[in-house]
Amino acid sequence: MSTATQPKVRIRALGKVFEQSTAPHPALDGIDLDITDGEFVTLVGASGCGKSTLLRILAGLEHHSSGELLCDGRPVRGPGADRAMVFQHYSLYPWLSVIDNIKFSRRLKANRAELTSADVEAASGRADALLSLIGLEKFARAWPRQLSGGMQQRVAIARALMGRPAVLLMDEPFGALDAQSREVMHDLILHIHRVERSTIVFVTHDVEEAIYLGQRVVVMQPRPGRIQQIVPVPLPAQRHQDMKHTPEFRALKAEILARIKASAGMETDADLLQRLNAVQATA
Ligand SMILES: Nc1ncnc2c1ncn2[C@@H]1O[C@H](COP(=O)(O)OP(=O)(O)OP(=O)(O)O)[C@@H](O)[C@H]1O
Ligand SMILES: [Mg+2]
Repeated sequence: MSTATQPKVRIRALGKVFEQSTAPHPALDGIDLDITDGEFVTLVGASGCGKSTLLRILAGLEHHSSGELLCDGRPVRGPGADRAMVFQHYSLYPWLSVIDNIKFSRRLKANRAELTSADVEAASGRADALLSLIGLEKFARAWPRQLSGGMQQRVAIARALMGRPAVLLMDEPFGALDAQSREVMHDLILHIHRVERSTIVFVTHDVEEAIYLGQRVVVMQPRPGRIQQIVPVPLPAQRHQDMKHTPEFRALKAEILARIKASAGMETDADLLQRLNAVQATA
C-alpha cells in the first residue's frame, strides 16, 4: 500500500545503457523522480532523450542498468498487473469485438488460474462500465476496423484500465490523431484520471498537451537522457480547453519549448525551413 510518505513510484539514480555491437549506448543517466499516488505526470523532451525507454522500464518491459526503481515500495523486476501501457499505435486485436478486446487481459488471467462465475460477472460489469466511460456503449459488438483511430485508442485505453492498474503508462497515445480528436481525448483522459484515480505517466512530443494534462511536466534532455527540469503546472485541477489561450499557459509553453530546443542542441523545423529558404535564395 502506498502511504503518505511513500511515493507510488520512486526512481533514484536510474541509468540505462544499451549494449551495442559498436559501443555501449548510454540512454538514461541519473534519473531521480518520485511520483505520488494519483498524480498525472507528463514527460517531454527532444527525440531520443529516453522518454520511451524510461516508460518501458517503468512498465517492466526493459531492465534498467543502474539505480533504483520502486513501485509501491517494491522493486520493479518485470511487467505486472499494477502497471498498464498504452502505445501510440492502436494495438487492438482485429479478430475480437470491442467488448472482447476490453476483456482480453482478464481472459489471459483466466488461462493462468480458474476464475469463478462471480469473477466473470464482475469483469463483464467492469468492461461495460469502461465502455460507457469512453462513450462507446453503442459499439460493444463492433469490430476494430469499423472504428476511427480515436475510437480505437479509446478502446485500447479501456483495455489497459480493465485490470485496475495503479499506474497507467502512456507513450504518445494521441500522436497519430488529428488536432480535434486529440482535444476530445485530452478531456476524456482527464475525466478518466478523476474517475479511476490512477497514477498516470504520459509521454508526448507536444508541449501544449504536456501542460494541459500534467500536474507536473518533466522536461528531459538527450545524450544521455536526463531530467533537465521538473515544472509544476499552475493550473486548477479542473482543466478546460480555453485555458490553453491564457497568457500564463502560452508563457509556460514558450519557456518549456525554449528549454527543449536549447538542450537538444538542434534546429527546430522552423529554423531548418528558414535556412533552406536562405540557401534557395542564394542559389
Ligand atoms: N533497443 C535499443 N537498443 C539500442 N539503443 C536503443 C534501443 N532503444 C532505444 N535506444 C536508444 O536510446 C535512446 C533513447 O531512445 P527512446 O526511444 O527512449 O527516445 P524517445 O525520447 O522516446 O524518442 P522519441 O521522442 O523519438 O520517441 C536513443 O538514442 C535510441 O536510439
Ligand atoms: Mg519515444
